[in-house]
Amino acid sequence: MIASCKNPTVRGAVAVTLVVAAGSVWSIYQTHGMLQMVHPETPLLFDHGLTSLNSQASPGWTNEQCGTCHQSEFQQWSHSKHAEAGSNSNFQAQFLEAVAGRAQWCLNCHAPFNHGALNHASMEPEDVDELFVSKPDWLVAGVDCLSCHVRDGQVLGTRVTDLGLAAHPMRRAPELGTPEFCGGCHQFAHKPRQFPDAFRGRLQQASLEELIAQNRVADEEMRCHDCHLAAGNHKMPGGYDRELVTDALSLSLNATWRSDLSAIQLVVSVSVHGVGHRVPGGEHFFRFLSVRTTLHDASGEIIIPANQDMPAGLETPITILVLEELPRVEEIRKRLGDFERGKEADAAPTPDTRLNPNETRTFEYLIPLRTIDRNKLLEAQTSLWYHVLDPEEAKGFRLPVEELSWELHRVSKEVAAGGAGSQSIDKER
Ligand code: HEC
Ligand code: HEC
Ligand code: HEC
Ligand code: HEC
Ligand code: HEC
Repeated sequence: MIASCKNPTVRGAVAVTLVVAAGSVWSIYQTHGMLQMVHPETPLLFDHGLTSLNSQASPGWTNEQCGTCHQSEFQQWSHSKHAEAGSNSNFQAQFLEAVAGRAQWCLNCHAPFNHGALNHASMEPEDVDELFVSKPDWLVAGVDCLSCHVRDGQVLGTRVTDLGLAAHPMRRAPELGTPEFCGGCHQFAHKPRQFPDAFRGRLQQASLEELIAQNRVADEEMRCHDCHLAAGNHKMPGGYDRELVTDALSLSLNATWRSDLSAIQLVVSVSVHGVGHRVPGGEHFFRFLSVRTTLHDASGEIIIPANQDMPAGLETPITILVLEELPRVEEIRKRLGDFERGKEADAAPTPDTRLNPNETRTFEYLIPLRTIDRNKLLEAQTSLWYHVLDPEEAKGFRLPVEELSWELHRVSKEVAAGGAGSQSIDKER
């Protein structure tokens, strides 16, 4: 049993009393040392969910208890997506729908400290949905302190100090500080229902591979930690952190008349700043960006593009898309098709349109105008959206669609009537 400490910070004074407790902790540690011969050791690096975690934590160790001494880490973690990885409604919906013989596998990453809860290698137990009726503590804790920090009954850290050793048995684990540690859960391929465990097809999360590629290009050694665990912040912000995503992306819009006043040309650009992998990062299956562009008149009425050939003599470069209807929506995503899932080797791979680190993606449109629209004051508008789940899929699961997509940026430009003084007004929010 480890001691508890109500002090906001871990201080030497506390540690003195802990030395007393350390004796009994040590004997528990010894016992665990013996147990280890019976139970094989679980490595610190998660192997893509294939092995259930056996941390051999002392029976009394709970996240709350870690939190009595490590208050800031506990507070931050409590508000993290890791803390709700086993209980959030998106996970629950997908888990109950799609487990198909993979329930234990899902839990090995989403709530690893589950004491082999289901532990059926090949089949779900019948009562798998009962799990969510009155959720057990381990499911509510999701990816918790014990999952990442305890093995063989010892606390693992990248730094071992006398104070630490006095508080609990511990061991230095440099692996914790590596991107590969995160990649143990954050990079894996599609796994079909058949056991024994085998992956098929392409990666459905590839954060580690993408980071390694980017480090090579930029000649850097960035780690996931530098951005997602900066200053030890255990909230580990990601896609659900609206500020992080908003700051990582920017949007611009330019609107000009064509010289013969027959059309308006729009240039929309999306840029990425300070991301170590492709964007959106994380799960290809769920996350995507969309860019919605439109042109309307002063009353807010959306313009109907003219159905006409462009006048001769003003050839349109092929990079420019002539729009036939508005609004125009671009999706920036990697879908998973039969090829990616390893179902059909001959199927065409789905295109991967996610942004590269530091990329600026530009969309150029031409909107041919009907005569009646040519003398109006027009406003072009573009907005960039982040989606954590496809709205159609969210509807199917009866999840709150509007909470799963949000606007990151919006830019508007007024285009003066008839091309007169086409200076435009920026309305970036
Ligand atoms: C998803 C894995 C993960 C979870 C969950 C997690 N940690 Fe950590 N923690 C880490 C990693 C990785 C580091 C090491 C960072 C480094 O040294 O580069 C770390 C570092 C620490 C440190 C060292 C000081 C610091 O903040 O860097 C403490 C203390 C700590 N964690 C306590 C906790 C507690 C308490 C919990 C539960 C409330 C917890 N951790 C949950 C991964 C995790
Ligand atoms: C009785 C208080 C106490 C409890 C309870 C406690 N710890 Fe600690 N922990 C400490 C002290 C003290 C240190 C050493 C801090 C230092 O040297 O700055 C430490 C060190 C650590 C470190 C390494 C910190 C570093 O700087 O790299 C980690 C990781 C850690 N604890 C995790 C945990 C986890 C996980 C739990 C729950 C299983 C836990 N601790 C429970 C007091 C406690
Ligand atoms: C035990 C498996 C596991 C490990 C190890 C792990 N994660 Fe996670 N992580 C998850 C799961 C599962 C989720 C999805 C939670 C959810 O349901 O939204 C997640 C979510 C995240 C998110 C998204 C948060 C958001 O706001 O959307 C980030 C960022 C993240 N993890 C970073 C890290 C980093 C950095 C590390 C390494 C220090 C790490 N994770 C280690 C399992 C893990
Ligand atoms: C240079 C900074 C940086 C590095 C390094 C980095 N990330 Fe990210 N990551 C971000 C930013 C910013 C976002 C938000 C934009 C986006 O979704 O891509 C993000 C998004 C994510 C997401 C999406 C969360 C969600 O809810 O879908 C995950 C998961 C993630 N990162 C994991 C990782 C892992 C794992 C590593 C290491 C292998 C890593 N990141 C390295 C900056 C970084
Ligand atoms: C190898 C580890 C691993 C396994 C196994 C795994 N996941 Fe995940 N899952 C993750 C990580 C890491 C994320 C976070 C990615 C991100 O934020 O983009 C995630 C994200 C999710 C999300 C999005 C959650 C949200 O908050 O929006 C759902 C839903 C999900 N997983 C369901 C499942 C289901 C169902 C299974 C089993 C069929 C499963 N996962 C198996 C690691 C895993």
